[in-house]
Amino acid sequence: MEKDTVVNIKIEKAETSKINEVDFSNLSFGSVFTDHMFICEFKNGSWQTPTIVPYQKLSMDPSAKVFHYGQAVFEGMKAYKDDQDDVWLFRPDENFHRINKSSARLAMPEFPEDYFFEGLHQLLKLDKQWIQKGFGNSLYIRPFVIATESGVSASPSAEYKFIIICSPAQSYYAGEVRVKIADHYSRSASGGFGFAKAAGNYAGQFYPTSLANKEGFQQVIWTDSNTHEYLEEAGTMNVFFRIGDKLITCPTSDRILDGVTRKSVIQVAEDMGIKVDIRPIKVSELIEAANNNELKEIFGSGTAAVINPILGFGYQGDKWELPSMNDSYATAIKDTILGIQYNTIEDKYGWRVKVD
Ligand SMILES: Cc1ncc(COP(=O)(O)O)c(C=O)c1O
Repeated sequence: MEKDTVVNIKIEKAETSKINEVDFSNLSFGSVFTDHMFICEFKNGSWQTPTIVPYQKLSMDPSAKVFHYGQAVFEGMKAYKDDQDDVWLFRPDENFHRINKSSARLAMPEFPEDYFFEGLHQLLKLDKQWIQKGFGNSLYIRPFVIATESGVSASPSAEYKFIIICSPAQSYYAGEVRVKIADHYSRSASGGFGFAKAAGNYAGQFYPTSLANKEGFQQVIWTDSNTHEYLEEAGTMNVFFRIGDKLITCPTSDRILDGVTRKSVIQVAEDMGIKVDIRPIKVSELIEAANNNELKEIFGSGTAAVINPILGFGYQGDKWELPSMNDSYATAIKDTILGIQYNTIEDKYGWRVKVD
């Protein structure tokens, strides 16, 4: 972790812990939070003294800009505990840089690197016992920034809160995932802010995704907003297609979230000798490959599940099912990334960062 500068963090510890009330064998994702939260306010043009306080409700004026103009960005990352009780983060600098990129696009102030890493470090130290050992268990970390200035004029807020909350998570199984390929709705547009992890990107997906759910699909694969001819990303995942022995994923752009898992998958796959093509891929190419039995796998990549196999897809009323694979790329790549995250294999990339 970054420790060069000394950051003064005001810490108020919780008087009692809620941990004994939690059934760690029966957690529903993102519904239970640890004893503490990190919070830092921006006002008068600068970030104030960061604090860690007992997890608590926020009090804000109903006219706060976040409620009206959606100035809100967030991140999703995880902490893992190994057999020796050591706690690890996976490429946390990527999440740090991405939240600032997201903030900049929404005209919000960037957060100082030393505040972020020292705050996260102290928070994880305080709530370390909430991180359960064992493959699949983790602590989901949700940093976010919201516009708190009161007043309903449509202009950037002069005040913000940067907050980190943490939620214990079990092995994530999304169930069987079949996707609908979008031919009408878009998640983002060229020149927009699809690359930002901005709250509004998710709000805009809920309605079209609920329509896809009614047709029996769990997620939507978004296509480019101009032509709907090119495959881009799934709901909260980047997406990979294995055609023959090649993996194909589209390049990132201002419409697509530059996933930390995506770039890790590309690197690990290439090091396994798998050819990865990063290029635009058309819906028509996918359908042709499926019809010729050359389409072997589709999977999504993201922090929640690392890799989520996609079993089938639908497009304009037609449906395709994928074959089951013995030599699945998805499984091999996932095992390597999990091994790095849980400190069970060597990390030649330097992605694993110890929290001590
Ligand atoms: C829209 C979108 N795409 C892709 C991803 C995957 O990104 P990452 O691998 O950094 O979790 C996410 C999840 O964070 C997402 O919300």
